[in-house]
Amino acid sequence: MRKPSTHLLAIESSCDDTSVAILENDKVRANIVASQAIHSLYGGVVPELASRAHMQHIVAVCDQALQDAGISLKQIDAIAYTRGPGLMGSLLVGVSFAKSLSLALGVPLIEVNHMEAHVLAHLIDSGNSTKPEFPFICLTVSGGHTQFVLCSSPTNLRVLGETLDDAAGEAFDKCAKMMGLPYPGGPEISRLAEQGAPRRFDLPIPQVPGYDFSFSGLKTAFLNLLQAGRQQQENFVEKYLHDLCASLEHHIVKILLSKFELCAAREEIGTLALAGGVSANKTLRTAFLSMCQKKGWQGFILPNTFTTDNAAMIGIAGLYKYADGNFSSFGAPPLARMAVGKV
Ligand code: KG4
Ligand code: ZN
Repeated sequence: MRKPSTHLLAIESSCDDTSVAILENDKVRANIVASQAIHSLYGGVVPELASRAHMQHIVAVCDQALQDAGISLKQIDAIAYTRGPGLMGSLLVGVSFAKSLSLALGVPLIEVNHMEAHVLAHLIDSGNSTKPEFPFICLTVSGGHTQFVLCSSPTNLRVLGETLDDAAGEAFDKCAKMMGLPYPGGPEISRLAEQGAPRRFDLPIPQVPGYDFSFSGLKTAFLNLLQAGRQQQENFVEKYLHDLCASLEHHIVKILLSKFELCAAREEIGTLALAGGVSANKTLRTAFLSMCQKKGWQGFILPNTFTTDNAAMIGIAGLYKYADGNFSSFGAPPLARMAVGKV
């Protein structure tokens, strides 16, 4: 007899995107993301505004997801939600909504670690692409984290190295702010970099041992470059905007990929993946795939919709916990900090 499908409703609200997805097994039936434009006025996410916007959006986003998937709440087998890490107020909205739905429907509740979900997005069945086989190493590059995760199975993830200070996305966002660009800065820098010279400005490559990263020195060097340039020419940033963006992007990609090459070689693992918002960056994607091709490694990148924050990735992470009967208690509070591989 054919096994009936599992329908999972997943909720993501850890930062400034309100998202609800419906999964039917490992296939995404709907994945609605409401981004909060309000933060661009402030050059970064304002936590209090983020939680209020989540409250305004979450019911409509959930309705839309169910409608797009063409299924009713009665067909939902479990609710998966982001327990952490993230902004406390933002998490609280998703966590409370998930608990209420789970209680009302009488279905299990599954807590998901947002950073594990970024990695497990690679296990979504997107139709035409293949999935990485275990073990693989994923470099997760997001606004708050930059980490190598060794994935031995969907429920066995371990951090091999991570940033000691700023994340790669944070470096993009903060340097963008220095140049007067809107938040989030990553996509804007990436767009402007397309017409710039990546080697016009030299920036330092940090000497951090092992598999760890550091981006704070690069950020300071970039600030110094802008200040020195402005002293010479008032319109320095405007004049060299494309080259500044291209040089910054070039250095961030170089830092990320030289460590990835080291990590893969030392761990002797040739199945590699990129995840997180920064992995939407075209230059990074192209350079990563070309590194893999040269080395004879298999490289996996995600469709853009699954790189930045979305509930589909929470759904796929929840699916594996559902299969193990690994459910969450109603008393579990949201966690602003939550380590990978610890739950
Ligand atoms: O994974 P994500 O959506 O949220 C977090 O969990 O942090 O990542 C957001 C980060 C932001 O720093 C944003 O600037 C960056 O991803 N980002 C990019 C691009 N698209 C998003 N960075 C560089 N190039 C892009 N195309
Ligand atoms: Zn994220």
